[in-house]
Amino acid sequence: MKTILVIGSTGAMGSAVIKSLIEEASEELRIRAMTRDTSSEQARNLQSLDSERITLVQGDLDNEASVRAAMNGVDAVFCNTAFFASGSVEGERKHSFVALNAAKDAGVSHFVYSSLDSASRISGGRMPVPHYDSKASVEAEIDFRRSDEFMRQESDGWFSRHVSVLVTCPYIENFYDFFVPEDGTLSDGRTGKVFRGPITGDGDWQMVALKDLGFFARMMLKAPDTWGGRTLRIASEEMSMPEIARTFEEVTGIPSEYQSMTEDDFLSSGLPHAHDPLNNMLIYRDGFFERRDFDQLRKLHPSLTTFRQWLQDTQWRGESKAMRKNAATGG
Ligand SMILES: NC(=O)c1ccc[n+]([C@@H]2O[C@H](COP(=O)([O-])OP(=O)(O)OC[C@H]3O[C@@H](n4cnc5c(N)ncnc54)[C@H](OP(=O)(O)O)[C@@H]3O)[C@@H](O)[C@H]2O)c1
Repeated sequence: MKTILVIGSTGAMGSAVIKSLIEEASEELRIRAMTRDTSSEQARNLQSLDSERITLVQGDLDNEASVRAAMNGVDAVFCNTAFFASGSVEGERKHSFVALNAAKDAGVSHFVYSSLDSASRISGGRMPVPHYDSKASVEAEIDFRRSDEFMRQESDGWFSRHVSVLVTCPYIENFYDFFVPEDGTLSDGRTGKVFRGPITGDGDWQMVALKDLGFFARMMLKAPDTWGGRTLRIASEEMSMPEIARTFEEVTGIPSEYQSMTEDDFLSSGLPHAHDPLNNMLIYRDGFFERRDFDQLRKLHPSLTTFRQWLQDTQWRGESKAMRKNAATGG
């Protein structure tokens, strides 16, 4: 019997990982879903997916003892910390190390840390994105603890053998809420859907379907000997916003267009978080994402989801729907 603890389990990412894990018919698998509130609607819905194999466990990354208790008897951990709930770069770093240290002390044999690219480093300091940079700084620390230098000083090799890093990117599903297209008039006079954010100009926007994210997390969790000590940067596809709007029109038949905003438009747009400096990422400019090796990703996951496929599978026609737990509940 293998027990996997999922931190961030009730969220968009954690629940996608759990759905992917329970797709595998293994009776040997048990999932412990950590949440601050085991009676929330999202927690109850999650458990009802498979009440045999999913157990809810109360745990709060602000309460180290609760996390240590949740780790008892666990073989593997998938950990997605929540920047916006943690409140700051320091807050998210602290949450991450509460989880990592508790797992190491409990002798957990595989820990998958969910990270994001370092916008600060990629942009040469020009465009920090705190909720990216905080996860990336934990990833850098994991890399350091995997290094020969660290091993020479004090390591028992836990980070270099047992910790994997899965570097994700924006979900395609962000179009459900963050980037939902508006009803409006296109430049050719037709009425239809207008995609306005994120501001990418002609640059590519990188995105991952939550089900692909779940696939890659499961792939790592199933093969700790292969993935322990390694980092994988994932995405499903990258394409420009004009291409995204064109593809949306081709699949749905709804006239659509991308109308890029200026930064001033963006700040006065009323879009969620428009005034939040954390959302530098929405003012894309160039070179925000680290390149993905799509050949490698397709070898690992031959049916990687394209945006076109995602539209066909989900039948999404531009309506908004709640996707992220904290955004929906104000948590
Ligand atoms: N949106 C994207 O495209 C995207 C892409 C990649 C990465 N991310 C990152 O993913 C994170 C958010 O995750 P999400 O998208 O799954 O959001 P979400 O749906 O709002 O879920 C947040 C999760 O974090 C948990 N949580 C919050 N505070 C906690 C605490 N103190 N202790 C334990 N668990 C806590 C919540 O659990 P309970 O409320 O049940 O306790 C919930 O499961 C952010 O850091 C974001 O940067 C987002």
